[in-house]
Amino acid sequence: MIKRIGVLTSGGDAPGMNAAVRSVVRAAINEGISVSGIRDGFLGMHQDRIIDLDRAGVNDIITKGGTFLGTARFTAFKEESVRREAIENLKKRNIDALVLIGGDGTYTGALRLHEMGVRCIGIPATIDNDVHGTGFSIGFDTAVNNIMQNMDRLRDTSSSHHRVTIMEVMGRHCGDLAVVGGIAGGADYIIAPEEPFVKEDLFSKIAQAFASGKRHALICLCENIVNADALASELEATTGIECRATVLGHIQRGGSPTAYDRVLASRLGDYAVRLLIDGVYGKCVGIDGTTLIATDFEEAINNPKHSHVNEYISLSNKISL
Ligand code: F6P
Repeated sequence: MIKRIGVLTSGGDAPGMNAAVRSVVRAAINEGISVSGIRDGFLGMHQDRIIDLDRAGVNDIITKGGTFLGTARFTAFKEESVRREAIENLKKRNIDALVLIGGDGTYTGALRLHEMGVRCIGIPATIDNDVHGTGFSIGFDTAVNNIMQNMDRLRDTSSSHHRVTIMEVMGRHCGDLAVVGGIAGGADYIIAPEEPFVKEDLFSKIAQAFASGKRHALICLCENIVNADALASELEATTGIECRATVLGHIQRGGSPTAYDRVLASRLGDYAVRLLIDGVYGKCVGIDGTTLIATDFEEAINNPKHSHVNEYISLSNKISL
């Protein structure tokens, strides 16, 4: 029987992580289970940065972006000896199960812990939306809204100066943020890793559009494909149309979570606790449509990451330049 759950957030922070922690804490306490908060992800687990969390400890955090528990990217956790030391800290504090909130790196750490006998459930939280086993990860919707709002602002200045504006967004190697954010912001051209990028196609479409009366254009570019400033210079040199680049950066990862992310986080947090109570471990939770699902860590890690790009790319092609 589980008496104390440890909860941690790991990897890049995502809006809605706090809502997930809040849900885990409240759902557990309502079942008579105590909760420990592990600060700074796997690093804090290894360094014994562990606090008690009660009902009041998670008051007023549902509105807050980031993660109040802190997070870290702790590569040393790959070492079995480091994990063993971290597990000793859990034992010392009578933590008999873990809820781990994060992306694929978090799941890999969770799988290793599961293999070493720790009862673990993962909750997907990353703005990239690049984890298998869920249609949406916590934080994606908020980041898409951030992208849309910032693209709206860029539209004001781009249209005033009759320029082409390139906006680079995050996503690591997944185009979901660029494609979904780009559609929401009305981008004229979207560059995502799932489709080959042909510069000449972009340049000629922009030139043709301006020749037929278009006065400005917005391009949404996923990171890690091409340097945004270099692309802007080349586009300007090739087409003769003024072009500017903006790298949105970490602004898109912050801010108060949207209603969608808060509700998703609340549902997944409660579901994670329910699975632990039912004796189900070694899985990550997720959402398929509106249905909650659970997938083995191994399957989640070894299968292609979920991506909405294929569902949206043809739409974006139809309604762009
Ligand atoms: O994984 C989330 C993410 O925001 C990616 O989109 C991005 O590439 C990366 O994290 C940035 O990481 P960091 O905050 O460590 O620079």
